[in-house]
Amino acid sequence: MVDITVRPMVAADADRVLAIYQAGLDAGNASFEITAPTWSAFDTARLSAHRFVAVDRDGGVLGWIAVSPTSTRAVYAGVVEHSVYVDPAAQGRGIARLLLDALIASTEAAGIWTIQSGIFPENAASLTLHQRAGFRVVGVRERVGRHHGRWRDVVLLERRSRVIA
Ligand SMILES: CC(C)(COP(=O)(O)OP(=O)(O)OC[C@H]1O[C@@H](n2cnc3c(N)ncnc32)[C@H](O)[C@@H]1OP(=O)(O)O)[C@@H](O)C(=O)NCCC(=O)NCCS
Repeated sequence: MVDITVRPMVAADADRVLAIYQAGLDAGNASFEITAPTWSAFDTARLSAHRFVAVDRDGGVLGWIAVSPTSTRAVYAGVVEHSVYVDPAAQGRGIARLLLDALIASTEAAGIWTIQSGIFPENAASLTLHQRAGFRVVGVRERVGRHHGRWRDVVLLERRSRVIA
């Protein structure tokens, strides 16, 4: 992984970030969403302090990670939900793990204690990635939403920081 670095996401990354997002949605096992949002909607929904991209030697964006708050209630101020997407041509090289490690470090440094994610049971890569990074399965939400007309289950995973007591 010497040729890949992780840096904060900036507005100039928008086109690549949204293209990678759309490629993940098109593959069918990433999210209930069908279409990637506009940059404005993406930007509004996600915390600016905890967004990263993975770039190659030439600066090309190969993947991204970002989080959204889960609640406006003060008690859940340290609980966020994340998304991670890697360009299909760059998958299987450890890029998502690099992004996840950067996110874990940055959220823990900011006092965020729980990262959660909902993952389709069919998304073996994402389930493996998250469990290796210390996420645990909370449970399976049954037929919680419809995707292309089909009811689908979602596995809820969370990672509770051990350094925030
Ligand atoms: C899920 C996703 C982000 C993984 O990205 P990636 O860069 O290919 O993942 P990594 O190479 O970092 O692999 C992380 C771990 O998952 C494992 N893994 C990767 N692909 C796998 C697969 N198809 N099946 C099983 N395990 C897999 C790897 O072995 C690795 O574990 P290890 O470090 O112990 O060897 C990527 O497949 C993707 O962008 N998918 C579309 C969008 C998506 O589904 N996002 C997640 C939404 S919840």
